[in-house]
Amino acid sequence: MLAERFAPLALLVACLLPGAAQAVADCGSDFTCSLREAAAHAGIYFGLATKPSALGTGSPSAAVIAREFSSLTPENDMKWSALSEAPGVYDFTRSDSLADFAAAHDMRLRGHTLFWGRPNGPPQWIDATVSSAPDPAATLRGLMQEHAQTVAGRYAGRIETWDVVNEPLELLGAGIDADTLFTRVLGERWVDEAFHLAAVADPGALRFLNETNVESNPAKFEALLALAGRLVADQVPIDGVGLQAHFLQARPNRAQLEAQLTALGDLGLLVELTELDIPLYLFAADPEPLQAQAAAYADVVNACLAVPACRGITVWGLTDADTWVDSLFPFSIARPTRPLLFDEALAPKPAYDAVVAALLAVPEPGPAAQLALGLALLGAFRRQRP
Ligand code: G3I
Repeated sequence: MLAERFAPLALLVACLLPGAAQAVADCGSDFTCSLREAAAHAGIYFGLATKPSALGTGSPSAAVIAREFSSLTPENDMKWSALSEAPGVYDFTRSDSLADFAAAHDMRLRGHTLFWGRPNGPPQWIDATVSSAPDPAATLRGLMQEHAQTVAGRYAGRIETWDVVNEPLELLGAGIDADTLFTRVLGERWVDEAFHLAAVADPGALRFLNETNVESNPAKFEALLALAGRLVADQVPIDGVGLQAHFLQARPNRAQLEAQLTALGDLGLLVELTELDIPLYLFAADPEPLQAQAAAYADVVNACLAVPACRGITVWGLTDADTWVDSLFPFSIARPTRPLLFDEALAPKPAYDAVVAALLAVPEPGPAAQLALGLALLGAFRRQRP
C-alpha cells in the first residue's frame, strides 16, 4: 500500500533525474520495464518468433510473451509448406492461433513467409505439379498467385509486415540462388513477381525482402544491397529489408551492422532485424560468457537504434530450450548453444537486462515534454494525498 501511495512521487523524482525520466515513465507501476515497454520508449518494436505450443492459455510462456513482446512472427506456421499439404488444401489452424494471440495482446504480426525457395519453403507437391505441367512457368505463376491471394488475402488488415521473399540469395555466395524452384522455372526476376503478387493480395501490408548470413559476409551484403537497389529502381513494390541476424559464426560487429542498416535505409527502405540469436559458444574464451553475450546483444540493439530506418528487432525463439540452433549441424555440436534472452527455466538472462538497458538509455524527450510529464505526475501525487 505504502509503495503504491508513493509511486507517483517516486516517478516524479525519477522524472527529474537526467536520463531516467522517460524511461521510468514508460514502465509499469512496478518500476520494471518489460522489453516491449523499453522498446516503445526507444521508438522501436521488440518481437518474438514462436510456435503455437508456446501460447497455450494460462501457460507461463504465454504470459511472458504477452508481457514482453510487441510483435509476433510465426516461426514456421505461415510457411507455404506448413499451410498446404496438398494442392488447393490449406490448414490455417496453427497460423490463426498465432494471429489471434497477437491481436489479443496488441502485438504486430509479421507474416513469415510468402515465398521461400529453400527446401522447407514450397510444399513438395508443388515440384511435382510444376515439373509435370506442359507449361511449368505458367503453372508456377498460377500457384504463386493463388497462394498470395489465399494467404496474404486472408490475413489482410492483420499482418503488419510480410516477409514476401525469404532468402533469395545463395546461402554462402553472393548471387541469386539458382538452385530453387522459383529461379529454375521463372528466372531471377521471380523476386519481382513475388512482390507484385503480394501487393495485389494485400496492398496494406508492408512488404519486406528477408535475407540471412549477410551480417558477417560483406560480399553477400553487397549483393543484397544491389538487389534491393535494383528493386527500388525498377519500382517493384518493396518497403523494406530484413536482416535475419543469426550470428552463428562471428560476434556482431556493431559498426558494420550499423553501416549495413544505414546503406539499406539510404535506398529509402525500412530495415528490421528479423531473426536475432547470438549463441554462447562465440564467447567461450571470455571469462564471463553470459556477460559477453549480453554486451553483444546490446551492440545489436544500439546499431538498430542508431539508424532511423530501423524499426524493430525480433528474436528467433523465447528460451534457450526452444532454439533451432541446437539442431543445426555443425553448430549443434556445441549444444546447448543458449543463444536467446531467456534461459531454459524461462528466467531472463544478462542479455535480457542488457537489451532493456540499451533501449532505456535512449535520451529522454526535451525539457517541455519532461515538464509536462512532471506536472502530470505531481497532479497524480496530490490526488493521492489524504
Ligand atoms: O513438426 C515436425 C514434427 O512433427 C516432426 O516430428 C519433426 C521431425 O523432424 O519435424 C517437425 O518439423 C520441424 C519444424 O522445424 C518444426 O519444429 C522440421 O523438421 C524442421 O525442419 C523445422 O525447422 C525450421 C526451419 O526454419 C525450416 O523450416 C525451424 O524450426 C525454424 O526455426 C527455421 O527458421 C528459419 C527461417 O524460417 C528463415 N531463416 C532461417 C531460420 C532458421 O533456419
